[in-house]
Amino acid sequence: MTVKKWEFDQAAAENFAAIARREIPDYQRVIDLTINIIRKLGLANPKIIDVGSAIGTTLQALYAAGFRNLYGVDSSAEMLARSFDKATLLQSNTFPEDHGPYDVIIANWVLHFIPERETYLQAIRRSLAPGGVLILTEKVAAGELANELYYDFKRANGVSEAEIAIKKQRLQGVLTTLPLEWYLVQLRELGFRAVEVVNANTVFVTLLAGALHVEHD
Ligand SMILES: C[S@@+](CC[C@H](N)C(=O)[O-])C[C@H]1O[C@@H](n2cnc3c(N)ncnc32)[C@H](O)[C@@H]1O
Repeated sequence: MTVKKWEFDQAAAENFAAIARREIPDYQRVIDLTINIIRKLGLANPKIIDVGSAIGTTLQALYAAGFRNLYGVDSSAEMLARSFDKATLLQSNTFPEDHGPYDVIIANWVLHFIPERETYLQAIRRSLAPGGVLILTEKVAAGELANELYYDFKRANGVSEAEIAIKKQRLQGVLTTLPLEWYLVQLRELGFRAVEVVNANTVFVTLLAGALHVEHD
């Protein structure tokens, strides 16, 4: 049986909140962490863009935390149509450099959907203001055992074996993973001075990259 390739279509947009809760480990924790990082930067009215902003969950949390200079970019018209809208929302499948530079670029759970990842990261780097940071969460390439741990997370949230199998098939060639090392090397080569892992859960890793001061013990 052939299954329809995964798309961020109307059905995905309507169900996105449940999908995120059931299928993305540490979803809320990473959003909270993102806001905490931005607060700690201590910038006055930072310009923030959320890449792959989907229905605007992160933008809404940023707004609630008091941030007002907010941008969201997503390639899906269906997701944007259902988005929290107190932000400048852009529909594009390339990074909106023309609206930059940005103090903070958030790319949580999105670059793994973008085949031209290196080109996209180059555009992000060009668009980051001096002293700015990138917060990046990706599903990374992993072995069978680590993937099983991820599926256990889904199972614990009531996702059935059939749903897990179908989603895996639907995502083939749509969500593509690269090793964590690829990101670490790539970001350093792009000139990010500090690249740090700030969260990890099974096969999902959150990196903080920017011109930050590195403290040694
Ligand atoms: C898993 S969701 C991201 C969740 C979101 N960051 C959050 O915090 O709720 C992935 C999003 O990336 C978007 N996307 C996929 N390819 C894209 C591209 N080339 N440019 C911008 N957005 C893209 C999808 O439409 C989808 O809304």
